[in-house]
Amino acid sequence: MEYLDLAPAYHASGRVRLPGSKSISNRFLLLAALAEGETAIRDLLLSDDIERMLEALKALGNDWKRMEGNDFRVRGAGGAFPVKQAELFLGNAGTAFRPLTAALALSNGHYRLTGVPRMHERPIGDLVDALRQLGADIRYLGKEGFPPLEIRPAPILAGGRVTVRGEASSQFLTALLMALPLNGDGATVEVLGELISKPYIDITLKLMARFGVKVERDGWREFRVPSGMRYRSPGTVFVEGDASSASYFLAAGAVAGGPVRVEGVGRDSIQGDVRFAEALQAMGAHVEMGPNWIEAAAPAGGRLQAIDLDCNHMPDAAMTLAVVALFAEGTTRLTNIASWRVKETDRIAAMATELRKLGAQVEEGADFIAVSMPGREAPGAVPQRLSFKPNAAIDTYDDHRMAMCFSLACLGGVPVRINDPKCVNKTFPEYFDRFLSLLAPVIAIDGPSASGKGTVAALVAEKLGFHYLDSGALYRLVALAALRAGVALDDGEALARIAETLPAAFEGGRILLDGEEASAAIRSEACSAGASKVAAFPAVRAALLGRQRAYRQAPGLVAEGRDMGSVVFPDAPLKVFLSATAEARAERRHKQLIDKGMSANIDTLLQDLHERDARDSARAVAPLQKCADAELLDTTAMTVDEAVAWVIERVRQRLPHAAAHS
Ligand code: DC
Repeated sequence: MEYLDLAPAYHASGRVRLPGSKSISNRFLLLAALAEGETAIRDLLLSDDIERMLEALKALGNDWKRMEGNDFRVRGAGGAFPVKQAELFLGNAGTAFRPLTAALALSNGHYRLTGVPRMHERPIGDLVDALRQLGADIRYLGKEGFPPLEIRPAPILAGGRVTVRGEASSQFLTALLMALPLNGDGATVEVLGELISKPYIDITLKLMARFGVKVERDGWREFRVPSGMRYRSPGTVFVEGDASSASYFLAAGAVAGGPVRVEGVGRDSIQGDVRFAEALQAMGAHVEMGPNWIEAAAPAGGRLQAIDLDCNHMPDAAMTLAVVALFAEGTTRLTNIASWRVKETDRIAAMATELRKLGAQVEEGADFIAVSMPGREAPGAVPQRLSFKPNAAIDTYDDHRMAMCFSLACLGGVPVRINDPKCVNKTFPEYFDRFLSLLAPVIAIDGPSASGKGTVAALVAEKLGFHYLDSGALYRLVALAALRAGVALDDGEALARIAETLPAAFEGGRILLDGEEASAAIRSEACSAGASKVAAFPAVRAALLGRQRAYRQAPGLVAEGRDMGSVVFPDAPLKVFLSATAEARAERRHKQLIDKGMSANIDTLLQDLHERDARDSARAVAPLQKCADAELLDTTAMTVDEAVAWVIERVRQRLPHAAAHS
């Protein structure tokens, strides 16, 4: 997908379980690989940057295994990497590139480290200079001071002092500190200039200590790794949720009602970015915190206020503040953010350009950005959501944080397009699904044939003003398109290709295929039978998955069909399974047919339903089944209106905000 369109939204609330922290995941992996003994790492983040680290470790002879889900087992080398010659491709993963450079420089081997073109524009000279002081042999293969790098075997000096500059990236100091225990004689590191992003060094020191290496330090100037220290596995370690990723959800709660709760980080977190919550609070948001959760909501009865903040301690989460500034009264100034310029992209320039597309006034400097939204300046002015320029197409510069930050703009009540949304894979592949779950709750409705699910679902959507997805119609359209193209209904691959590019559209109750009305055609007996066949191919289901998920847009979606609550929207906050006895369903179908002036026999219909139920429940792929967390509604003795009222009442209880206008 080249872009993702976000519909205008006004309200966000709900809960999000966070993915594992990137910073902690990649540090744990490296420490576990260098340690003595085996480490079980639980809740590891699964994303591009972590994959680069995992691939590198494998290439370096490390024996790691994925157990279940996000749980990994790493057998440590008990010192430097066993493989002494390797070529590593590290993408754009700074958290892999820098620490591996240091660890390999002290591993007495011959290595080449490369990345994507942007990685080759991100400076690494400060780290190389520091490692050279220890005797490391590191050469620049491209531009002086930048990757790619070649490392050659070299004797490393025992003990001694190393100086490293602290102003460009704290990752250089992190890399150095994590590698130094490989040099059994220890060393002292002196930081030159101001050390930025100190909380990240805190994470490094805490995690090293978990692996048995206690660094002594004198403020933020001098760090001593005592001699004879070796990493030892602590057994099992847990990765906290990612505090930088939490910032987008908390911001959504603060700018659009809320409350939004994130789970996986909180008061006990070791990540500096949890302090983002304090910044929101300073802007007037209502914030609560528990040991491992944080909740944010909009200021009671008021709007957020601009702030002036030194963001040196949380450069990543600070990007989110630049977008929150659009929703605040006054001009927000974020200072001491020079490091933004050497991240995934020049983030100050990128941020300024894209904020302007939304109508913001932006001033940028070498190390600051100031943002305000015109029309929001005058205190007490009537809220002017329209000051957001609609239909901005946001470029994301292959920077996951740009994509995530700017998704918030749709909460200004305008449609927003996010170009290249896949760049979020760097740290948070499921980001947009989780984000949309806060703005667009899904009501999943399923049930057996003739249970009335289609009628009920469409009416519930209408009453709530929600979007409506008739997923069965998609399978029927695939069957229709296949029949028209002469594709055999047992050719799974050809059917999947049709499903991938299906030219289908739903417009105001009409169902179109190739621009032509197909509402009646897809209800034919041939299409019903065909749909049931094509729906049994996993490749067809997979091809329709992204398309179905794209129907989730603010203010919400009623999704009807087989696997809506299990596969497509497993996080749907309300799932309903409609049932009715086969006799009642046969009677309804009979009445429908007679009303249409068609002849029908109730006994034949009953037998058909029994057979179809049996077939649907028994099939291997997406069988007809009530999800464990779905609510059962037996409609045998109910009218359609009664069933609809029952569902709306459930919505009122679960999603009071969504039901407010029904
Ligand atoms: O709900 P319906 O009768 O329009 O569905 C048509 C066919 O597609 C039916 O055989 C069930 C199948 N289907 C499915 O497998 N998964 C869905 N999400 C929706 C329908």
